[in-house]
Amino acid sequence: MIIQPRVRGFICLTSHPEGTAQHIKNQIEYVKSKGKIANGPKKVLVIGASTGFGLASRISAAFGSDAATIGVFFEKPAAPGKPGTAGWYNSAAFENEAHAAGLYAKSINGDAFSDEVKAKTIELIKQDLGQVDLVVYSLASPRRTHPKTGVAHASVLKPIGQPFTDKTVDFHSGVVSDISINPVESDEDIANTVAVMGGEDWKFWIEELKAAGVLADGVKTVAYSYIGPELTYPIYRNGTIGRAKDDLEGTVPVINDILKDVNGISYVSVNKALVTQSSSAIPVVPLYISLLYKVMKEKGIHEGTIEQIQRLFAERLYTADGQVALDEKGRIRVDDLEMREDIQAEVAKLWEQATTENLEEISDIAGYRNDFFNLFGFNFPEVNYEADTNEVVNVPSIE
Ligand code: NAD
Ligand code: NA
Repeated sequence: MIIQPRVRGFICLTSHPEGTAQHIKNQIEYVKSKGKIANGPKKVLVIGASTGFGLASRISAAFGSDAATIGVFFEKPAAPGKPGTAGWYNSAAFENEAHAAGLYAKSINGDAFSDEVKAKTIELIKQDLGQVDLVVYSLASPRRTHPKTGVAHASVLKPIGQPFTDKTVDFHSGVVSDISINPVESDEDIANTVAVMGGEDWKFWIEELKAAGVLADGVKTVAYSYIGPELTYPIYRNGTIGRAKDDLEGTVPVINDILKDVNGISYVSVNKALVTQSSSAIPVVPLYISLLYKVMKEKGIHEGTIEQIQRLFAERLYTADGQVALDEKGRIRVDDLEMREDIQAEVAKLWEQATTENLEEISDIAGYRNDFFNLFGFNFPEVNYEADTNEVVNVPSIE
């Protein structure tokens, strides 16, 4: 079929298999161009491996460190006449590239929050790898069915305490407007968001992997967090999602305790704001990102997901002397360039000025849009989007 983008709000309903394959190729080329990661991981489990930071983690481990990878994700395969999700095509393309390079790569498609998928993953590790030496936890989801209670939790993106009003942009039309978001009405909203995006499921994974004996001596595990600028505090870091991130970060000592007798260690890495399927759903954030991109590109220090994660692996998690640089709260920071004072001062100035009329000029909204379409395999010059393409693509080693 001929596949073109079909956009509804911050979602694109279609994805292009050849375009996503090109996206994967580009990311692999980048990782290869940086050379091998010294002392890098060898057997890696990535939970949330099909898009965004998790996908970049899988690519960095495989092509930066020749690692065998198992990827867990929740995606929809294609059916005749209906394209699969971007994460499905990404995983198909990734596995094809990994296998061609002689690397082990298998995938599990299902609900990572469930006991069943955890058990299936453990079986696969036992059968094929024995143990893993790195576990990347990179889930982003609006809901979670709790495996012990059966309760279906839905997360919300709301401020806590007072309503929040600020600028936002519809990144398709470029219209800048004010948005007001009411605060949570009850603590239940906070608790639900923490249940979905906090640290409990990460802890469950590590507990179960450890109990099954599939974590190698000296295992590392990393989960991803975000802080961002003061202007997004009310909706992000001081809002419901921020409470979940506090909980995730607070899980590090708990997991370290679980990992003590296998000499393992856990980290939270605070990453840069980037265009992903998850971040495009957060009000105010797309405008911030498009201003941030403009400033960081002008200064020559812009990074995308693959650049961020390759640097996380090569310069933080796996350094020559084994030292991992942490901030005063014990977190890895690869948002260091985003948070630089000169960058933030410049973004804050542009934020005050931003209007519908000047947006194209003062921001990188064009770069934002391009990254958004790239997520779904569109806007790659190598691909002919007028041509018929086979929408039914298999992930070769799916369990
Ligand atoms: P993403 O939407 O691109 O990726 C989410 C992944 O989770 C996908 O692989 C998806 O298949 C998987 N997933 C979702 N629900 C699942 C389920 N029930 N079972 C199995 N897999 C499931 O998101 P992302 O932006 O890469 O976010 C990953 C992490 O990075 C999140 O913790 C996020 O908060 C954090 N982070 C994001 C940003 C940003 O700007 N995007 C910045 C810093 C940190
Ligand atoms: Na991810």
